Amino acid sequence: MANNKQIIFSKGERETLHKVLAARRDMRHFVSGSSVSADVMDRLFAAAHLAPSVGLMQPWRFIQVQNDQVRKDIAMLVDEEIKATANEIGLRKSEFLKLKLEGVRTCAQLVAVVLAPDDGTILGRRTLPRETALCSAACAIENMWLAARAENIGLGWVSLFDPKKLGALLHCPKEALPIALLCIGPVHEFYEKPMLVQEGWRDEKPLAGMLFEDRWPIEGEVQ
Ligand SMILES: Cc1cc2nc3c(=O)[nH]c(=O)nc-3n(C[C@H](O)[C@H](O)[C@H](O)COP(=O)(O)O)c2cc1C
Repeated sequence: MANNKQIIFSKGERETLHKVLAARRDMRHFVSGSSVSADVMDRLFAAAHLAPSVGLMQPWRFIQVQNDQVRKDIAMLVDEEIKATANEIGLRKSEFLKLKLEGVRTCAQLVAVVLAPDDGTILGRRTLPRETALCSAACAIENMWLAARAENIGLGWVSLFDPKKLGALLHCPKEALPIALLCIGPVHEFYEKPMLVQEGWRDEKPLAGMLFEDRWPIEGEVQ
């Protein structure tokens, strides 16, 4: 990279960034039997590792799942959690069960993101220690998500698993916390809108109702 002080982004580059932001989707349908080159994976991990982190803690750890049996075991944990979620979801259970919520078996690359055991960083973390570490790891995942879209490959964040069971399966230390399974790989096409919107599960809400001035609004003040 050129000297950061000398980098001035052009309008076209700014538009490209916004194009990537808008085109990013959470993907669950992958081209089975496809692959992602080591070069591309290196760029995705490098993007993740550029993320900001509280007190420069860099609490993210990535476990690339290469073993078929490990992937199968992970897929079963996800199935288990989907069933448990369905049983708690109430009236919309059958609708929920029709949703595609993961691509663990078909994605080209499966990566578990694990929050490392707390290294005792205090700077920026005195009041929200767990949350700030978690936010830092989430920043790394978002970087990866955007970098994947720029490579024209899909990434899906799966959080449907029991972290204790996944941690045990991946031999994580007991103070570590698996926070995400990332399904990565070529897709036939990117969803036009969030898949939950396309499937009629939920509507997106506009920014206008989330942007306040000076204080939290009183009820009815914001549409
Ligand atoms: C923390 C987090 C956990 C998520 N877990 C899941 C998941 O387990 N399964 C799934 O299908 N999507 C999951 N998603 C994706 C969201 O459903 C998706 O981001 C949202 O519907 C908006 O769609 P978009 O990402 O395509 O804009 C998760 C997203 C985040 C940020």
